[in-house]
Amino acid sequence: MKKRFYITTPIYYPSAKLHIGHAYCTTLTDVFARSKRERGFECYFLTGADEHGLKIEKNAEKAGVTPQEFVDNIVEGFYKLWDLLKITNDDFIRTTQDRHVKVVQDIFSKMLAKDDIYLGEYEGWYCKDCEAFWTDTQVGPDHLCPDCGRPVQKAKEEAYFFRTGKYVDSLLKFYDENPKFLVPESRKNEMINTFIKPGLDDLCVSRTSFSWGIPVRENPKHVVYVWLDALTNYITALGYDSDHPEKFEKFWQDPECETIHILGADITRFHAIYWPMFLESLGLRKPDREFIHGLLMMRDSKMSKSKGNVVDPYPLVERYGVDAVRYYLAREVSFGSDGSFTPEQFVERVNADLANAYGNLLNRTISMIGKYFQGTVPAYQGTVTEFDGSLETAIEVAITEYEKAMDDLRITDAIIAVNDLVNRSNKYIDETTPWALAKDESKQAELASVMNHLARALFVTSRLYHPVLVTAADKAFDQLGLPEDKRGYENIHDKHLLDNSATVKGNPLFPRLDANIEVPFIASLMNECK
Ligand code: MSP
Repeated sequence: MKKRFYITTPIYYPSAKLHIGHAYCTTLTDVFARSKRERGFECYFLTGADEHGLKIEKNAEKAGVTPQEFVDNIVEGFYKLWDLLKITNDDFIRTTQDRHVKVVQDIFSKMLAKDDIYLGEYEGWYCKDCEAFWTDTQVGPDHLCPDCGRPVQKAKEEAYFFRTGKYVDSLLKFYDENPKFLVPESRKNEMINTFIKPGLDDLCVSRTSFSWGIPVRENPKHVVYVWLDALTNYITALGYDSDHPEKFEKFWQDPECETIHILGADITRFHAIYWPMFLESLGLRKPDREFIHGLLMMRDSKMSKSKGNVVDPYPLVERYGVDAVRYYLAREVSFGSDGSFTPEQFVERVNADLANAYGNLLNRTISMIGKYFQGTVPAYQGTVTEFDGSLETAIEVAITEYEKAMDDLRITDAIIAVNDLVNRSNKYIDETTPWALAKDESKQAELASVMNHLARALFVTSRLYHPVLVTAADKAFDQLGLPEDKRGYENIHDKHLLDNSATVKGNPLFPRLDANIEVPFIASLMNECK
């Protein structure tokens, strides 16, 4: 397995505030990055903002500010949201930054010089909101945008085109040779059958109908099409074609580094078809994996800024804490499938998994160690009770399952592996009945072993939950009395880790939520329900 990772989110449009759907993508990417780093791998994590395009130009005009002022203001909100959600990105790229603009112009020039880009005239169905041209088949008899469902208009303009035909065969060969490139794999057939087989038109890569974009150096009345501009962020951020290409060499070109793009199903076409073609045109490596996640729906329709049916993550985090929101996002929707956000499920998840299962396990364990052993975890003495062995096995199974699932980007499954261990540990309390052992002088060794095993199970669950429960897991380590230097993942298999640790009673990590109060509160955050 590769030891170095480069992982990216899409760069979000600062056309309006971000919603919980964007938070979903970034949080999941962060969980993956953190889990890799905690296990000792190097992981470079990029996110950013996609700041050009007609929609932004128009929104700025409506707001009476310049496009740059408009995006500056919204991007401030991106920074705040990622701070609030404790996202650990290593860099944040903005497509209006010099480091990006200059390189995009260079890329355009290189493609022109190679004759991969030529000047022509474009006529097609244009969706203003998605800034995409569509073919007759795609818009259908009603002339509706296949992405957002809004009416599209026939549009014509002088434009530059990228010769996709030149790269189709090698793209198909690349798909064949790299069956793990697109995850889930079904996306590959969708790309081939929906877009490639019907005949891929050359891609229009410039616009003259608006000016908020990167000017084509050779012909400045054209600005670079937003998708050519946007996709290249993944390499401009690393310093491709700059005076400092070290990161680019280390995280993109070096085959020892695994490059992973995380993206929503709505933008698969651009990432799975055009991006590998652009890279090939530039003579660069293609990404190793593109992980396409499903979309978060509200009721039955996709949550989207343009439809206005969004959930704002801020009040959720303020009221329930960063851990509950991160947990909900990572656990509720199977990564890869669509899912819906509902207030009932949010409350139910927090109560069932965090308050009742995990929080309660910690509470009971710390209380019992306090009561029976004056707050000192008894030392490990091997398997003493008849149930110790099976708990030890459950611990090892959870670790293995978690690592396997996380490596495959099956983040939901990784969490379920930890939940299983929490449930197994709660069951272990019922099996060993410590309160009964405590009444019997001759059962002291058993009681001590049960406490040690529970403390260990709590360390392991907290360690594995840590990439998701970024503050609660640390509080659990505090309550277990583990000093900072003993909390690392490298101790995950150490059975003696908790020996003689001095526990500290703390507040419950996740107070139970009252559904009668919280469900209406969350519903009130969902614009659609107002
Ligand atoms: N700017 C482009 C991406 C360029 S990447 C080179 C863009 N931006 S976006 O802000 O509209 O959306 C970016 C991503 O946000 C989507 O691909 C998806 O990953 C995520 N989501 C947007 N709405 C979402 C949901 N309702 N649910 C889950 N993810 C959502 O497209």
